[in-house]
Amino acid sequence: MDSDSLTYKKLIQDIGNIIDPSIPTHTNLGNVSALIKSRFNWFWVGFYKVEKSELILNAFQGPAACVRIPKGNGVCGKAWSENKSIIVEDVDLFEGHISCNPASRSEIVIPFKNSNDEIVYVLDIDHDQKNAFNKIDEMNLKTINKLIVPIL
Ligand code: SME
Repeated sequence: MDSDSLTYKKLIQDIGNIIDPSIPTHTNLGNVSALIKSRFNWFWVGFYKVEKSELILNAFQGPAACVRIPKGNGVCGKAWSENKSIIVEDVDLFEGHISCNPASRSEIVIPFKNSNDEIVYVLDIDHDQKNAFNKIDEMNLKTINKLIVPIL
């Protein structure tokens, strides 16, 4: 097993151990984003919450970020509107990319769904290098979504 697989295995175990349905969702998501960011030392890790026709910044780790993203806008709004994960190898080549920080060079965005299979959050992860994310990341981050359904 390579180092990333081992890191994800331990990360998923630790997330499973730390989430608590008796506390507010944003508190749980704060811990989830902190664990993800610390294990891979990514530039920015955070959740946008679905609020009517827009995404509103929720728990995150990293520099200050855009607060509102209309449905369909940017990588996050597109992932939400098209109900799909998006891996952006180079943010400069993604039409409509929303730059919250010029240091962000690549990105992965995963719609997070609840027990009714409704998109309720979008997980956004930024890296300061191009081509930082791949299908292994997508698969493991989707596993984390399934794991935390009880607190969404
Ligand atoms: N780049 C995202 C906006 C969120 S910031 O990266 C945290 C987008 O295009 O939706």
